[in-house]
Amino acid sequence: MPLKVNYGVDYNDDYNVYEDDNYHYDDLYEYENEKRDITHQTKAKQEVIRTGAWRCPICTYDNEDSMSECDICGALRNCLVKISQTGDSTAGGGRCKSSGASVMVKSLFASFRHRAPAKSVAFEAKNDAVLIEDAFIIRRNFQEFLRAFSSQKHQNINIAPFKFDSPSPDDLVSTRLHSSKLDSKANFKRLSSLDMSTREREKNILIESELGTEGPNSSSASVARDGGVKERDFASDCGIKPEILVSRMRSVSLSSKSRTGNVNEETGTSNLEYKPEAWMIPDQAEDRLSQLNLAIVGHVDSGKSTLSGRLLHLLGRISQKEMHRHEKEAKQQGKGSFAYAWALDESAEERERGITMTVAVAFFNSRKYHVVLLDSPGHRDFVPNMISGATQADAAILVVDASMGSFEAGLDPIGGQTREHALLIRSFGVDQIIVVVNKMDVVEYSQERFEMVKQKLGTFLRSCGFKDSSVLWVPASSMENQNLVATPDERLFSWFHGPCLLDAIDSLQLPARDYSKPLLMPICDIIKSQSQGQVSTCGKLVTGAIRTGSKVLIMPSREVATIRSLERDSQACKIARSGDNVTVNLQGIENNHVTAGGVLCHPDFPVRVSNHLELKILVLDIKIPILSGSQLELHIHHAKEAATVVKILSLLDPKTGKVTKKSPRCILAKQNAVVEVVLQGSVCVEEYAESRALGRVSLRSSGRTVALGLVTQIMKTQ
Ligand code: GTP
Ligand code: MG
Repeated sequence: MPLKVNYGVDYNDDYNVYEDDNYHYDDLYEYENEKRDITHQTKAKQEVIRTGAWRCPICTYDNEDSMSECDICGALRNCLVKISQTGDSTAGGGRCKSSGASVMVKSLFASFRHRAPAKSVAFEAKNDAVLIEDAFIIRRNFQEFLRAFSSQKHQNINIAPFKFDSPSPDDLVSTRLHSSKLDSKANFKRLSSLDMSTREREKNILIESELGTEGPNSSSASVARDGGVKERDFASDCGIKPEILVSRMRSVSLSSKSRTGNVNEETGTSNLEYKPEAWMIPDQAEDRLSQLNLAIVGHVDSGKSTLSGRLLHLLGRISQKEMHRHEKEAKQQGKGSFAYAWALDESAEERERGITMTVAVAFFNSRKYHVVLLDSPGHRDFVPNMISGATQADAAILVVDASMGSFEAGLDPIGGQTREHALLIRSFGVDQIIVVVNKMDVVEYSQERFEMVKQKLGTFLRSCGFKDSSVLWVPASSMENQNLVATPDERLFSWFHGPCLLDAIDSLQLPARDYSKPLLMPICDIIKSQSQGQVSTCGKLVTGAIRTGSKVLIMPSREVATIRSLERDSQACKIARSGDNVTVNLQGIENNHVTAGGVLCHPDFPVRVSNHLELKILVLDIKIPILSGSQLELHIHHAKEAATVVKILSLLDPKTGKVTKKSPRCILAKQNAVVEVVLQGSVCVEEYAESRALGRVSLRSSGRTVALGLVTQIMKTQ
């Protein structure tokens, strides 16, 4: 019944590799010890340091004698000398043999080790829960350490202390992409005096003004679309003065006008102006439910597929007969509890392992919406698949497991996918989220447990940039069918009077659709038929519209095909517009010219293709700094490419967006930076100012998301 979306890569191959990747704050402690050991072991080696240089005992980089701090990691030379002089080790001639930082870190972690375990809530009886609480404390201590360390006249390294109430990564990176509170009027004047046809100049001025200014924590200021089709008004939400928003919208739309039209190979530019045809704009009178793309995300085993299967069954999308079959088969394999999940986990491997591996797409109707359900895998090995599916989301359901220890494991900063999924979803621009606190049956429908989950996760979601008013909390049990489509029984109803899940879905707002721009449909999946010249592509239209008989350009192969037919929820339809998730059956095209990760476009307005990008990134909680030469994995819509950081252009102040350091050697956790990356292969991409969906990236390394970013410039392919 559900349509499985394959990312195209068998991540299973890497399964065992990732198993070893245990990233813990405890590791940091060991890491520091290791570093100290190494420092001692390398004492002899330090004798060969060239004269006129001093070696940093933290990162072992040989700095010029004139440097008062390490150029790589920023450790203060004097501070280290002072500490090492009071300690056992000696320091002379500017060569530190013991790391002051390590001493500080050691004492910091030592104090943690002897600390009595904290019990913040009654339910945290389990050891792992205490450990997770400890991790938070370590994290806080470490931040204090960083603050103390960096406050010692330590200018060049800007380690922004992590704040739980800080704006979302998306906001942080996008705020600076739009004009500022202070300068926006001026910028608008400057922009409006521009020659509209000179695209590069516009963009340079726009980005220049964005980089050098202070802005509010807007959830990426709305992009005004040509032709008067508007995005939702964020002005009041963000506390931005209306005139500022207008100026932002105009400044962004000035550059957004420039998208393409017959076709300069390198820049993708032309002077054709796009005008949508009448059929492309939906008729208000049209009696059709709007499509809502709803991603189901959350930590592994939180019950996403069971919840999805239950919903589909309750809403009549899975017949009784089918359900009996799943039940019987699941029981036969000794996995009776997975019967509902099996409605979505269709492959033999998924069923055997009891985990979702690829995104399952299913459909149901609520009162208000035709919902496209995207059931994501929760296991960390399949985060790339989750990214591919969830980039299509208009809103999300974050499922957390209420049972003891499981919620805490999901929220673990190192191994928990609750955090990573929430951050990723927010970075895709999703700002409405329903948190289903599932498996309430396991905790006997305890209000206390629910409130604890709400309080802890709520704090984290706020730090990701979700507004309290955009987060709905639904306690539920998928297994016992409580609070999914109807009022729950007394066990929940005695203390919970909020909406059930289905009502919560209906209370979501549909994001504004962009019908006024040329077609862009990133290809999520392809189905190749054996018969001649027929290929089907699946995906969500980001902008524009298509209908049967339309010609489309397939990028990056630059081949033109004709739309033979369209399907929505396996039903033939004639037209699909922005926001619709459809299967497009193409004819007149060779199979090998269509690839997942490609994009269907209007023939006169091709998407840009490049392997060389300038990105504005927000680095997450990483252990190993990002350096020039770092190898990462770049994810953009449904495409994935190996990326090399070729240049670190600048570090940015996370609050103001101002450049705090040019050409730094490395980027540390929580820092904002502008980098240039070169990809192994080219991807279809747009600058964020022109297309939010095609201008957002996430960067991953060793199975973890290490940074979120926006494309600020598309450069000449290398
Ligand atoms: P992944 O897709 O692999 O991340 O897992 P998932 O989040 O889809 O979890 P899934 O639906 O496969 O369920 C995992 C286990 O949790 C199964 O054994 C389910 O029976 C069980 N489960 C799901 N929901 C509930 C619930 O409400 N109560 C109880 N007690 N168990 C549940
Ligand atoms: Mg699942």
